[in-house]
Amino acid sequence: MNFQTAKGMDKYMKNQTVIVLDFGGQYNQLIARRVRECSVYCEVLPYNTSVETIKAMNPIGIIFTGGPADVFDECSPKCDSEVFKLGIPVLGICYGIQMMGVAFGGEVYVAPIREYGRTEVNFRDSILFDGIKTKSICWMSHTNQISVLPEGFVSTAYTVDCKVAAMENKDLNMYGVQFHPEVMHTENGTQMLHNFLYKICAATGDWTMEDYAKTAIADIKNKVGDGKVLLALSGGVDSSVAAALLSKAVGSQLTCIFVDHGLMRKNEGDEVEEAFKDKGMKFVRVNAGEQFLCKLSGVDDPETKRKIIGEEFIRVFEAEAKKIGTVDYLVQGTIYPDVIESGTGDAAVIKSHHNVGGLPDFVDFKEIIEPLRLLFKDEVRKLGLELGLPDYLVWRQPFPGPGLAIRIIGDITEAKLEILRESDAIMREEIANAGLNGEINQYFTVLTNIKSVGVMGDARTYDFTIAVRAVTTSDFMTADFAHIPYEVLDKISSRIINEVKHINRVVYDITSKPPATIEWE
Ligand code: XMP
Repeated sequence: MNFQTAKGMDKYMKNQTVIVLDFGGQYNQLIARRVRECSVYCEVLPYNTSVETIKAMNPIGIIFTGGPADVFDECSPKCDSEVFKLGIPVLGICYGIQMMGVAFGGEVYVAPIREYGRTEVNFRDSILFDGIKTKSICWMSHTNQISVLPEGFVSTAYTVDCKVAAMENKDLNMYGVQFHPEVMHTENGTQMLHNFLYKICAATGDWTMEDYAKTAIADIKNKVGDGKVLLALSGGVDSSVAAALLSKAVGSQLTCIFVDHGLMRKNEGDEVEEAFKDKGMKFVRVNAGEQFLCKLSGVDDPETKRKIIGEEFIRVFEAEAKKIGTVDYLVQGTIYPDVIESGTGDAAVIKSHHNVGGLPDFVDFKEIIEPLRLLFKDEVRKLGLELGLPDYLVWRQPFPGPGLAIRIIGDITEAKLEILRESDAIMREEIANAGLNGEINQYFTVLTNIKSVGVMGDARTYDFTIAVRAVTTSDFMTADFAHIPYEVLDKISSRIINEVKHINRVVYDITSKPPATIEWE
């Protein structure tokens, strides 16, 4: 993991801050998101952040995350021991409670029974569990547990197999839970975090998007002065929100270049134009569809397609940017998850991702502005709404940079793009009609390039097969195929067959990721 604090964003430190110390658990980002959902600003830092750095941030509370290590292992991760002497309230979660236990002289052992999944927990009287039933379901994921409480601590929750499912020392402001309050499956988990933040850390809830927008706009104005700013607008949520923010801050000093590669969904290019044209900034739409299609002609290898699109995109953008000349600032839509966890480069390349966010290599500029660097995706959406962006842009599902090109198996033609756009629009419409768009995280159609025999009227047909792909996921790294009700599938299928020429068969992709990926190419 590669950590960075939110550099240069000290202004936001005027907000009360909670620090999440990361011990490598899988739910770390989720903890930070939950804290922010409670209107408290928070940052994720590495477990070994020095006490000086922590002190300088003046946090109102600290949360230790879970992690895969065994606390009794000599080289297991430990926080700076001075952290416990700051007098700042601490909440240790899973590995966090165990580390706290050992730090205060308690003992941790390998329990004979591993607790995993939904587990019934009994709560005793504790401010952390205020307003929570004495028995409820929590998400457990541990083998080790506290066997001997540290002196001065009391157990505040237990399960059949775990005597210390939670503990605390009120005088020291130290609290720990063996389960995961941040996970949805923990009933009342948010209430517990809320109690920690508001009743123990005395949070006032000063992290709101309205405030963030005001501060960010003032900050950008101040920084940019009368400089020129350039932004590559893709129409995706991040670049759209960044554009709206910059436009509010510097108006006509901002130029947004929107390269329409002709591989977008039905009406999407026009929607982007409508949202940003004549809105105070300079908006340039480059209709490069033909150029892209020409380069892609006859290419059927997925990686080659991606590379061609990436390179062509840069070329088109560069040509347009040159017309503007030197700019002072280039905007990038980096968001907080990218900051917390940027790839190490060791992983195998499954697909060359193309992102219309970062193009610093070939544009002549002085500095990068990353106005969303502090925000999680849901916060970016909130900010978008705050800035008055239309719902269809703010709630847009993720869409890959190479667009529909990687949803057409084999070579790409305008005729195939048309088939895909129409079938995809029908699917989106029917998912929305069924009220499922909030539940399914990504859904689209794929032109499989398979032709098969069918019968329509009394005649034989030999036409294309469309696949319907829909997934539920929280991070897009893994995903389950969505269980769309048969009636909705039926509607999608019959409408596609009836309304889209050259489709005579619709199939449903029922593969999760892994082993499949979400996109087909
Ligand atoms: P896969 O297919 O790898 O997709 O399971 C995971 C998520 O990433 C999106 N995706 C992309 N996004 N540029 C992007 O910005 C790309 O080149 C790209 N390829 C895939 C995909 O839509 C899914 O949400």
